[in-house]
Amino acid sequence: MSSTQPPINFTRGVPADESYPLEQVADCAGSVLTGKYGTLSMQYGSSLGFLPLREWLAAQHNVTPDHVMLGNGSLQLVDFLAHGLLEPGDLVLVESPTYDRTLTLLRRAGARVQGIPLESDGPDIAALEALLQQATPKLIYLITDFQNPSGVTTSLRKRQRIVELAEQYGFGLIEDAPYRPLRYRGQAIPTLHELAPKRTLHMSSFTKQISPGVRVGYMVGEPARIKQLAKVAEDTYIAPNVLGQAIVYEFCDRGLLEPQLERLRKLYGARLEAIGAALRAELPEARWIEPDGGFFLSVWLPQGVSNAELRQRAAEVKLNLTDGRAFFPNANDGDRFLRLPFCALTADQIKEGVRRLASIAG
Ligand SMILES: Cc1ncc(COP(=O)(O)O)c(C=O)c1O
Repeated sequence: MSSTQPPINFTRGVPADESYPLEQVADCAGSVLTGKYGTLSMQYGSSLGFLPLREWLAAQHNVTPDHVMLGNGSLQLVDFLAHGLLEPGDLVLVESPTYDRTLTLLRRAGARVQGIPLESDGPDIAALEALLQQATPKLIYLITDFQNPSGVTTSLRKRQRIVELAEQYGFGLIEDAPYRPLRYRGQAIPTLHELAPKRTLHMSSFTKQISPGVRVGYMVGEPARIKQLAKVAEDTYIAPNVLGQAIVYEFCDRGLLEPQLERLRKLYGARLEAIGAALRAELPEARWIEPDGGFFLSVWLPQGVSNAELRQRAAEVKLNLTDGRAFFPNANDGDRFLRLPFCALTADQIKEGVRRLASIAG
């Protein structure tokens, strides 16, 4: 490997720099500041967030605005949930693997976290039923569409069964769905919130749709719950980033979101094709889950190859990989797990990255 070769980063799940609609956002920001929401967007607002955007989202989700709360990104809403709904020692079930930052926040709030093994079509239902025989969790946290880190989408059959179990045992469902609008092929599946609106808090974010920099996430759920969480928000920051929310509202109200999503689906869909083709060509013996959308594809390394060893060898060929163990409630379960975020790399970088991976994974 020549020392002048640039590194390839299969690490962070961030949007592509070239995906940001800079000029449109600049224009929206100008209109907000000079228009009728100028003063409102500069003042402290409601802890629930900027009302016009809540109304816009409520219409999208077929609910009234008192079902919608905005926050500074959806991760902060996870933190509010953890503080507002959980007592230290409460049991929370998550998919294994799951989003590593959620694991951190749940643990920081003192929750006991247990994993439900994830299959290629969602959580292992038999394993979930066995866990429920032992103890009833307060909440189950699920990333139902194009999961971070695995890329898995939970099937309709499994969603229906999870909802039945939630009714039977009386636990709440947290559905974190920031990748849902980024479907590159196939048909959308009803959300847990659509199947069980009273049991589910549904979260999403504009991070993957417009930009992480706007820091606008949102949650949809029963008004009493939303009110309870808005109190946690108020005690944390008085009000969220109203200016960012007003700019996002202007963007949505002008009808710019759907064309932006169309552009993203084209840009990222081609990158998904590229990584699938590269894996088939370079690592045909590997076992991987190929998603229909989102940011991540995941690979299970062959028996005998550990994450630590692989990452060390990867660094030698200038390939940066994430430690797969961080995504598992029981870290050892992730020793052979590799998350490959493909959206922020060009097709050529993906091809070269997979070639380097194949050169060290054998
Ligand atoms: C499943 C999941 N939830 C939440 C987040 C955080 O997103 P936000 O930028 O809205 O806080 C991410 C970001 O990668 C994610 O993958």
